[in-house]
Order: sequence, then C-alpha cells, then structure tokens
Amino acid sequence: MTTAVGTGKTVKMEILRQDTEGGQTRWEKFEVPYRPGMNVISALMAIQQNPVTADGQKTTPVTWDMNCLEEVCGACSMVINGRPRQSCSTLIDQLEQPVRLEPMKTFPVVRDLQVDRSRMFNALKKVKAWVPIDGSYDLGEGPRMPERKRQWAYELSKCMTCGVCMEACPNVSEKASFIGPAPLSQVRLFNTHPTGAMIKDERLNAIMGDGGLANCGNSQNCVAACPKGIPLTTSIAALNRATTVQMFRNFFGSDHMVD
Ligand code: SF4
Ligand code: FES
Repeated sequence: MTTAVGTGKTVKMEILRQDTEGGQTRWEKFEVPYRPGMNVISALMAIQQNPVTADGQKTTPVTWDMNCLEEVCGACSMVINGRPRQSCSTLIDQLEQPVRLEPMKTFPVVRDLQVDRSRMFNALKKVKAWVPIDGSYDLGEGPRMPERKRQWAYELSKCMTCGVCMEACPNVSEKASFIGPAPLSQVRLFNTHPTGAMIKDERLNAIMGDGGLANCGNSQNCVAACPKGIPLTTSIAALNRATTVQMFRNFFGSDHMVD
C-alpha cells in the first residue's frame, strides 16, 4: 500500500459491506493514503481505485451514492462513526479513526453504502409537496410574498431529502408507516405558499391518518440531526395546530375558503 507523499500518514477505515439487497453483511478494513483536507468521499475513491483490504485481500470496489459534492443533493448520506451525515462534507480530519462507514438503516440497502430513499420521494408525492400550477397557458406572475415570509420559506425549502432526519428518528423504520419529519415539514412549506395553499386541506388530510403526524414521538432527534438546520419540530408543532383546525372543518363542514 502506498502512503501520501511526504507525510507517510494513512487513514484507517472500516466499511460495512453488502453485495445485494437483503444479502449478508460483513465488515472490511481498509487503509488509504492521507491527504490534507480530504473528505470521506475522497477516501472512498481511493478504495475504488485500489480495492484491496488492509490485510492485502483483493475485494470489490465499495458502492455509494453521490452527486453534487457540496451538501446540496442529499445523495451521499451514510452513517459515519455512528452519526448519519453527508460523506461529501465530512472531513477526515474531523473524525476519529478507524472511520466506520455504514449505510443508513431506515432505507433498504441497494449495495454497500448505497440506499434506496424512495420512501421519502413517495411521501412527498403523498402530501403533494409542490405548488399546483397546471396548464400550458401563461399564468402570469404569481402572487407576491412578504419578504420576511419568503426568507422564512427559503429556510424550509433547503431540505435536500437526504434522509438524515429519518435515520435519526426512532419512529421511522422500514417496518413502520410513519411518514417522517422531512415530508411533514414540506407540508408546512407548501401550505404557506400563497398558491400552494389552494390544496392545503388535501395535504393536511394526507397527514392525519395512519403513519401521519400522530405517529411522531417527539424525540426531537430530527431537528438536532438536520444538516440544513431546518426547524422540523417547530413545523410539526405548527402542523398539529393546523390539523386540529382541519379536523373541525372536516367534521362541521367548511366553505373551503383558503386562508
Ligand atoms: S429535513 Fe434536513 S435532515 Fe431531513 S431530509 Fe431535509 S435536509 Fe435532510
Ligand atoms: S454529494 Fe450531494 S450532498 Fe453530498
């Protein structure tokens, strides 16, 4: 094994390997050349170029997901030394060694560190996390939003569907139906948008049934884990109030006024 020129330093890694979905897992140890400023992905790339374990055994290249490499797309999330986070923005210098990498357990493992986050995208579809503007004709300008509200909404819109809050939440699992904190917060975001509010009642009704808001155990892990600092628990509290009002509207009827 070669080491970084001039430093002789190496990075010790331990990676939980899994060849197929639902297959057996095994830990493999690696040692890669250290470079100042390297992130977890650059260490993974070194393994990809030379897939040989620390005891000299040839192995398969490790698989993981990545895209933007700047903590925007959310694709590269994995559990690093026990904490779910992005491998592109986690620097080796910040970590204790050996650096232990595992896939997030909330999502099905595709292979090695690559997981299938479809449940989050399906949840966004379920709550209609979009502004409904159908039609091929010119709709003109949208309604103006007060600047303070726009700035507030921008913070919630930073969600990159990375799955870290879902992984941190004890109530989200492959076996549980809880929709999870990120899609809930997107309900609040789109219900606040002047045009998005047109289907506010549909979004609230979507989170009032099984697997919805009531399944939140208020552990507060999500808000502590979110790399974007999204106020998830504040969103959930606001949605509790909104769904209570919606429940009365459903029961007593409503004139469907959007407010
Ligand atoms: S709310 Fe935060 S932790 Fe959860 S998916 Fe969005 S960015 Fe990731
Ligand atoms: S590669 Fe996009 S968040 Fe890490």
